[in-house]
Amino acid sequence: MLVQDFIPADIEVKTDQGSASWRAPSNIALVKYWGKYEGQIPANPSLSFTLSASHTHTTTHFKKRTEQGEIPTFDLIFEGKSRPDFHPKISTYFERILPYTPWLKDFHLEISTENSFPHSSGIASSASSMAALSLCVLEMERVLYPSMTDDAFLRKASFLARLGSGSACRSVEGPLVSWGRHEKLSGGSDLYGTAYGGSVHDVFREYRDTILLVHKGQKTVSSTAGHSLMKDHHYARQRFSQAHLNLTHLIDILKNGDLEGFAQIVESEALSLHAMMMTSIPYYLLMKPNTLAILEKIWEFRRDTGEPLCFTLDAGANVHLLYPASGEDKVLQFIKNELVAYCEKGQYICDQSGQGAKKLGSAV
Ligand code: PMV
Repeated sequence: MLVQDFIPADIEVKTDQGSASWRAPSNIALVKYWGKYEGQIPANPSLSFTLSASHTHTTTHFKKRTEQGEIPTFDLIFEGKSRPDFHPKISTYFERILPYTPWLKDFHLEISTENSFPHSSGIASSASSMAALSLCVLEMERVLYPSMTDDAFLRKASFLARLGSGSACRSVEGPLVSWGRHEKLSGGSDLYGTAYGGSVHDVFREYRDTILLVHKGQKTVSSTAGHSLMKDHHYARQRFSQAHLNLTHLIDILKNGDLEGFAQIVESEALSLHAMMMTSIPYYLLMKPNTLAILEKIWEFRRDTGEPLCFTLDAGANVHLLYPASGEDKVLQFIKNELVAYCEKGQYICDQSGQGAKKLGSAV
């Protein structure tokens, strides 16, 4: 598909109002997206587990405006409170998606949104929130263009979510989603995420992700700034080719269930992501001393018990513990005994791979 394929036919909008409510999950990348080109095009392909418990629930009411405008107007309520500080990000999102949703400029939107996880937990909410909002927008578009197929709906929701936050395009479907072109992924696109169609070993079913909240404060460097530091990064080319290669290996591992290989790829990806931050100009660190202490503990645990527990990291200090459902009791005990001490206020979130976004309601 090409970008222009997402521009709908020009129609006269006869519907005056509507509403949509969607829940979209967060996701955790196994092969990381880090670095992008103009138009939110990823510099390398990525693959993620869609999560389940960590999600955003968004309800949007659409009302036809009486006056003409260039961009939709909107009110935003986040967890029951008006949050004008979120407006610039949402306005930028609307500006970016408007060429593909021209009908939107005739509407005023009342957006009400909440996360299942604490906002200041250091868990990126942009993926789940941009996916949930995009699904609401597309739900309205489906009213205006009733011939839209379910596949086209999901594809375009992911396409729009990408324009809000790159990784958000992987928060529409599940349980594994790829984004970006790769020689072994037929149908993969830089423009939207695609539910992973390769064969997946049973061990990866309902794979656990326990998120240790190490540092709940604001990040010192945003992901947007981090991506742009990849432009002139000394190791950029090697990093992008490493991601391609790691994805090739991961595709085999997902098929054969080799959990040792899985740990090696996933941990290497996490550390490579942070290595890029540490070698950017200017360089910076998002890991905290407690992050490193946890990583050492995980390696020790794996060595001592043989349990296939591994970690990954986002662009932050929190640690995602990944493990098969069969190891749950042992790992949770290990977390309680040894890792909780490194978490801010002893907090962690128990999550697992999930099936993707869910529609909770709509009306016209
Ligand atoms: O979607 P963004 O622009 O916030 O980038 C996030 C990138 C990582 O979370 C660090 C990696 C990934 O692929 O999700």
